[in-house]
Amino acid sequence: MHLLGLKSNQIYNLLTTDWHGINFEPFEIIFKPAFDLAKISSRPCNLWRYREAIPIEKNAELITFNEGFTPLLSIGLGANLTILVKQEQLFSTGSYKDRGATVLTSHMKQLGISHLVQDSSGNAGAAIAAYAAKANIKCDIFLPEETSQAKLIQMAAYGANIVKIPGTRQDAALAAFEAAKNTYYASHSFNPFFIQGTKTFAYEVCEQLHWKSPDSVVLPAGNGTLVLGCFLGFNELAQAGIISKIPKIIAVQAKNCNPLAQAFHNGLKEVQKIEAQPTLAEGIAITHPIKGPQIIEAVLKTKGTFISVSEAEISSAWLQMAQKGFFIEPTSAAAIAGVTEYVKGLEKEEKIVTLFSGHGLKSLDKIEKILKVI
Ligand SMILES: Cc1ncc(COP(=O)(O)O)c(C=O)c1O
Repeated sequence: MHLLGLKSNQIYNLLTTDWHGINFEPFEIIFKPAFDLAKISSRPCNLWRYREAIPIEKNAELITFNEGFTPLLSIGLGANLTILVKQEQLFSTGSYKDRGATVLTSHMKQLGISHLVQDSSGNAGAAIAAYAAKANIKCDIFLPEETSQAKLIQMAAYGANIVKIPGTRQDAALAAFEAAKNTYYASHSFNPFFIQGTKTFAYEVCEQLHWKSPDSVVLPAGNGTLVLGCFLGFNELAQAGIISKIPKIIAVQAKNCNPLAQAFHNGLKEVQKIEAQPTLAEGIAITHPIKGPQIIEAVLKTKGTFISVSEAEISSAWLQMAQKGFFIEPTSAAAIAGVTEYVKGLEKEEKIVTLFSGHGLKSLDKIEKILKVI
C-alpha cells in the first residue's frame, strides 16, 4: 500500500495499532511549523495564510479553492449564555472537511498520485472527491449503505466512483483499506496530512480572538480529525509562544454511538467494542475510531472531557439553531447540545468556541425525521 512517500526533510514516526485484527501503521508527521504574524495578517483570508505551518513543499502544487477563515459568530444560547460558533458549514463542499482535503490532495499532487481510495460517512468523501476532481486524481469512495442521498449525489457529481458497502461504517473502512493496497489510501482518519489541514481551525480561532485562545472548544467527535487537529494546532501555537494556554477540548458524541465517551468515563485509554444504535448525528457514528487512544489522550491532556447527547437533545438543539436562521447538519447540532450540557457543570463563565461542522442540505433525510418527530 502506498501511503505517504517519505521526503528527506520530513521524519515520520511509526506507530502500530491493532484495529479489529488488522495491523495498521498510522504515521505521524514531525514538522516544525513557523508563524510570522505580520506576514499572516497581510495575506488573503484563507487557511493557506498559515503557509509556513503546513507541511507541503511546493506552492505550484497546492490544490485549493481559497478555503478557510470562516466567520466566528456570537450566538445566544438561552438567557445568560453566548457562545462563539465557527461557520464551517460555509466551506465549498459544505463541511469543515475541506480543511483536511486541501492539504491531503496537495500532498498527493506533490507525490504524483493518480488514483486514490477513501472511506467516509459522507462529508470527508464529498470533500476529497471535490479536491480530487480539481487535482485530476481518480477517486474511489467506499461508503456505508445508509449514507445520506445528498452526500452520495454530491460525490457522484464531482466524478467519484461510489462503492456502497453493506453493513456498518467500519465495514466500509475495511473494504477501502483492502482496495487501497494497490493504490493510495487517502483516509481522513488515518492519513496524517488530513490533520495538518484540520489544525488550521485552531489557528483561525486564535487569530480571530486576536491571538488569544478561548477557555474551551466543544467539538463533535467521531474519528477525531477535528479533535486531533485542534489539539495539534493549539499546541503548535503554544510552542511558538503565540498563545499562553491550551483550551479544554470538550468532545461530543451521540449517546447512541459513543465508544470514546464510554472509554473515557470508564478510565480506559482505548475504546472497547460497543453495541451502537442509529443516530441523527451520522457524521460521528463511528464505532471504532482508529485513533481512539490518541483522541482520549488529547482530551485528557487539555483537562477536557467527553459528553454524550441523546437523540432528543440533538433534535432540540437542531430546532433551536434553525429558529435562529441556521440550517445545519444534525451532527453539528450534537455539538450545540453538548455545549448546553457542558455549561451546566461550570462554576465560572468561560469563553466557549464551537462550530457548525456541516450544512443542513447534506442531511435532509435526517432533518425530515427531526421535523416529523416534533
Ligand atoms: C458534519 C460533521 N461533523 C463532525 C464530524 C466528526 O469528525 P471526526 O470524524 O473527524 O471526529 C463529521 C465527520 O464526518 C461530520 O461529517
